Amino acid sequence: MINLTVNGEARSHEGDPSMPLLWYLRDTLGLTGAKYGCGVGLCGACTVHLEGEAVQSCLITLADASDKAVVTIEGLDPAGEHPVQQAWRTLNVPQCGFCQTGQIMQAAALVAMNPAADDGEITEAMSGNICRCGCYQRIHAAVRQVVEGA
Ligand code: FES
Repeated sequence: MINLTVNGEARSHEGDPSMPLLWYLRDTLGLTGAKYGCGVGLCGACTVHLEGEAVQSCLITLADASDKAVVTIEGLDPAGEHPVQQAWRTLNVPQCGFCQTGQIMQAAALVAMNPAADDGEITEAMSGNICRCGCYQRIHAAVRQVVEGA
């Protein structure tokens, strides 16, 4: 049995430990904020936090997450008022929205670990998150706004 916490709640899984975390979050727990984009670690749409680090949940197995803490967009701030979410709203970042939960989770991990990130560090940290609408300038500006307000 795999034990883990998801958004602060204790969870257990008795099935296949090689199941991708993304499948478990979406199909078993019904947490559909993390998106399935590519399934092979190339797009970042599935980004969640594992022990506070941004990870691509399509590449993480439940065995990898055993005894660890997972946070999804649903648990980042239940009121939707995380500074990154506030900046996203202020700057009207999303267009179609599909990649945005992954973008926000990646950005939230960055500002938690490096609250004084410079432009190069922001670009590098966000480089694994693809936006098919090309909202990169607004994404970067929103992360910068959080960093400047820190
Ligand atoms: Fe995980 Fe694309 S769905 S990186």
